[in-house]
Amino acid sequence: MPLLEVSNLRAGYGSVPVLHGVDMSVEEGSNAVLLGLNGAGKSTTLMTLAGLLPATGGEILYRGRPLTGPPSARVRAGIVLVPEGRHVFPALTVRQNLRLGAWTVRRDARRVRQNLNDVHSIFPRLAERADQQAGTLSGGEQQMLAIGRGLMSSPRLLLIDEASLGLSPKLTEQVFAAVQLINQRGVTVLMVEQNAGVLAQADTAFVMQQGRITATGSGSRTLEDEAVRAAYFGS
Ligand SMILES: Nc1ncnc2c1ncn2[C@@H]1O[C@H](COP(=O)(O)OP(=O)(O)O)[C@@H](O)[C@H]1O
Ligand SMILES: [Mg+2]
Repeated sequence: MPLLEVSNLRAGYGSVPVLHGVDMSVEEGSNAVLLGLNGAGKSTTLMTLAGLLPATGGEILYRGRPLTGPPSARVRAGIVLVPEGRHVFPALTVRQNLRLGAWTVRRDARRVRQNLNDVHSIFPRLAERADQQAGTLSGGEQQMLAIGRGLMSSPRLLLIDEASLGLSPKLTEQVFAAVQLINQRGVTVLMVEQNAGVLAQADTAFVMQQGRITATGSGSRTLEDEAVRAAYFGS
């Protein structure tokens, strides 16, 4: 049974439909990537999964059951979104930002400590910068903090929206490697990306175009697919 099964999902803004029937299946433990050009509907998909935007049709099954309820309930169920644009709290320290990420598990002090240790082992830089104001971090460090904050709430399914946006190739590589490590530690990952480099580490790739999934395959096959490359990456 897949961890996440999306069928014929529809959503939009006001009366403007954006998702026209999205079908995706994500296996537990896998590292999946959702690729597509600007405006394809990738962020809309993640926001609908996180409960920040209502579905207007279709179905989302999570662990075999229909997923409904507000964003906070979905976080408690293990669905955690790292939004596009990072959105760290600039005036708070790195440590304070991470603590806010642990809100849903705050009563379990041992869990909070364990999650903080995990975040620091994946992103040693965040341990070094614990007392620094988040707004003074570099773009790459802020992205690490945004992902680290997501990890603080013990995700089972981590949704990451365009982590590589605006990062240098070297930092992009570091962030992708960190996400791979997170996945290897047992967290199912669904990454939204425009950077095809991420396909090398993806078990499954979904290509999205104008609110629909137009191709599904393994990461390596999608990377080698000339038609997909030409259509989506201009190469
Ligand atoms: N808050 C919004 N209000 C109205 N339209 C929006 C809003 N956010 C996104 N859209 C529109 O929805 C479409 C898909 O956007 P989005 O999901 O952000 O695409 P992607 O993440 O793939 O770049 C675009 O046409 C965009 O203009
Ligand atoms: Mg987007």
